[in-house]
Amino acid sequence: MNNVFVFGSINMDFVFSLDRLPKIGETMKANDFFMTPGGKGANQAIACRRQGINTLMLGCVGSDQLSKIAVHSLLESAVDCRYLDITDNYSVGVASIMLTNSDNRIITHSGANSNQNPNRIKEILEKEAHPGDYFLSQLEIPLPDVISAFKCAKTLNLITVLNAAPAVKLPKELLHLIDILVVNETEFRVLSKFDVKSDSLIKSGAQKLLLSGIKSILLTLGINGSIFIDYDNFVKVPAYKDKVVDTTAAGDTYIGSFIASLIYNKNILESMKFASAAASLAIMKKGAQVSIPSYEEVKAFIKQKGEIL
Ligand code: RIB
Repeated sequence: MNNVFVFGSINMDFVFSLDRLPKIGETMKANDFFMTPGGKGANQAIACRRQGINTLMLGCVGSDQLSKIAVHSLLESAVDCRYLDITDNYSVGVASIMLTNSDNRIITHSGANSNQNPNRIKEILEKEAHPGDYFLSQLEIPLPDVISAFKCAKTLNLITVLNAAPAVKLPKELLHLIDILVVNETEFRVLSKFDVKSDSLIKSGAQKLLLSGIKSILLTLGINGSIFIDYDNFVKVPAYKDKVVDTTAAGDTYIGSFIASLIYNKNILESMKFASAAASLAIMKKGAQVSIPSYEEVKAFIKQKGEIL
């Protein structure tokens, strides 16, 4: 079975539950606060692993106490952390998350996530990766390091997945190295300059991205479901309509579960349905990694919904 290499961020999340967002100059009391491991890279690695896929986490943490908690969470889920870098020069990346009703707003500070070593990533991939393995990154680590790693991943015939979050304009040299671009509504708008208000706008935006060299696009639209587009397919899957407690890491859960399902030889449609079920379970619980379901939980949820996958 193929492996997944996740090159990305590892954070500690500081989560504040609020009735509403503060106004300018206002100090507000939160209804609830908790600190919990997160980071898009680490969340996606855990999502893959909890679906039973051998997953290696590549990234950087500090030597501070919070870094240790963040790494412990990865190890607890059996993510392979042998190649994690540890630096004394930075502390762990952090995210401040404001939860209001069912929505969230996130501010991050890179910390050790800014201290990647692209030459080492190349050495690790050359040693450990095999053609057909997946290579997954996000943009909470420096863009030049992502580009360098994607060049190496493509040379080794890995399947590359970029979750372009947080969204920035992507350089041409990266675009043709991306097999699957995963974006939400905001990121799609930044990259394609098209809105997601209708299928025809989405098709036009996706066409623009495909022409730039990206092989396929997976658009995640929260309660409006998800859409996969390449030159031959336009596949749309609705979201499950369950109670939303916290959407943090729902996208990360979707991505990790989607890749896991592809590795289990399921097709695009089946994998999107599986990923939607996993994401739906994730939003029923508060927190990032703590909310990511196991393979058995996703299977049971799908069965309970009366579906066969
Ligand atoms: O995608 C959710 C994640 O974004 C959080 O865990 C936070 O760390 C930020 O990176």
